[in-house]
Amino acid sequence: MRQPLVAGNWKMHGSAQSVSELLGALVEGGVPEAVEVVVCPTYVHLPQAIDLCRASSVEVGAQDCSHAVEGAYTGEVAAPMIAELGCQWVIIGHSERRAYHGEGEDLISAKLKAAMAAGLKPIFCVGETREQREADEAETVVAAQLRGALESVDTLAGLVIAYEPVWAIGTGLTATPQQAQDMHAFIRGELAGLGVDPAATRVLYGGSVKPGNAAELFAQQDIDGALVGGAALVAEDFQAIVTAAV
Ligand code: G3H
Repeated sequence: MRQPLVAGNWKMHGSAQSVSELLGALVEGGVPEAVEVVVCPTYVHLPQAIDLCRASSVEVGAQDCSHAVEGAYTGEVAAPMIAELGCQWVIIGHSERRAYHGEGEDLISAKLKAAMAAGLKPIFCVGETREQREADEAETVVAAQLRGALESVDTLAGLVIAYEPVWAIGTGLTATPQQAQDMHAFIRGELAGLGVDPAATRVLYGGSVKPGNAAELFAQQDIDGALVGGAALVAEDFQAIVTAAV
């Protein structure tokens, strides 16, 4: 049995006040034991988030990490630094990092290795663009992303995959439960080919997940939870999505 996981990616949003309000509501409202809940604020807000979540089961993650352990990499944050703060998770290979920061499979693979070496659990994101889906290339693209990033990583225990079709991110266009299920089943097949136990690996869906569509997505056999963007910034919406995952 794979435990459902709901992670909130806050992207570049938040202030000390909003972090305090959002996490105050989440911690006070309580999260069901059956669901693993993770919040991923900006680097700046990580210490505050860790402090606020201490008394609850809510875990904290970063949105990215450097491929390097230390050195002359201006603006980068190393995985051991994130782990030292008390974070357990890190998002790697988000489509916004791929699109706006030119991240490709080699760099993403190096980041996965750095995260694993620091004891962080990666949420590794894959997904096709609208053009790629329309050209019937979605599976080819996702397979290449999985292989390119995972093939050279030795230890993949605990890895979480997030399938996020780029056309569904922040657009209000969610993949249908069937489209998502089909890709999740495909991803499990690819994982098996890469030596990763597909039955033990959680595969999350991401892309305009809302309280209104979460339950039907989570009802799919191969969907183990969600990576939530916009709706993670609204306490009652995030809480409703978490509850739908029970
Ligand atoms: O990491 C989260 C995803 O990019 C989904 O964002 O829920 O705002 O579509 P969204």
